[in-house]
Amino acid sequence: MSYNIAIDGPAGAGKSTIARRAAAALSFIYVDTGAMYRAMGLYFLNHGIDPADTAAIEAAVQDVDVSIRYENGEQQVYLNGENVTGQIRREEVGDMASRTSVNGKVREKLVQLQQQLAARENVVMDGRDIGTCVLPDATVKIYLTASVEERARRRYLELKEKGQEESLEKIQEDIRDRDHRDMTREISPLRQAEDAVLVDASHMTIEEVTAAVLEAFEERRK
Ligand code: DC
Repeated sequence: MSYNIAIDGPAGAGKSTIARRAAAALSFIYVDTGAMYRAMGLYFLNHGIDPADTAAIEAAVQDVDVSIRYENGEQQVYLNGENVTGQIRREEVGDMASRTSVNGKVREKLVQLQQQLAARENVVMDGRDIGTCVLPDATVKIYLTASVEERARRRYLELKEKGQEESLEKIQEDIRDRDHRDMTREISPLRQAEDAVLVDASHMTIEEVTAAVLEAFEERRK
């Protein structure tokens, strides 16, 4: 039996940073499930598929092979054999992923891949539906959130560092839209699992949040 840590929460709450750190501390594998939805999204984008065209999405899902490999401990995402890890971080890819992840066939394919990984390995897996749907029996479930204002502030600074100027208002609006879509979709919406530990990172440092996750894991694994 492997140990599984599930971390869910809205976009920009710091899930990947925390999951990566917790995985390193425990020598577990970090599985970024958002990257899988992004790889699918990239395929739809590259093939000019309209996210609202359910039939086209479902037909395309059969032609998409998403797989994960680890190189120097870092997750690499492959789309039909091509390493797309660098390409999937684009804003338009994230948007496409959010729009097409509402589709049941898209989810079915990726959830299967995620469950196979978690059955084999000790993992810290982050996403939107890990505790509620993918790993209902995870050793510990964390719901990591932060206020819209704080998430927007962090995103603003991140973009600024990359030399991209974007108004704080526009970033807040995008975050609210993404939250709304992720939380209100019909299949596996983002929500806190009943047995998840709630961590509000609005006023916490990365070290504090990582420590809280590790502590919750130690508590539950007993
Ligand atoms: O975490 P992220 O921004 O890389 O995820 C991109 C989109 O993928 C997100 O808006 C919703 C979707 N997603 C999902 O539906 N379920 C997951 N487990 C992970 C991501």
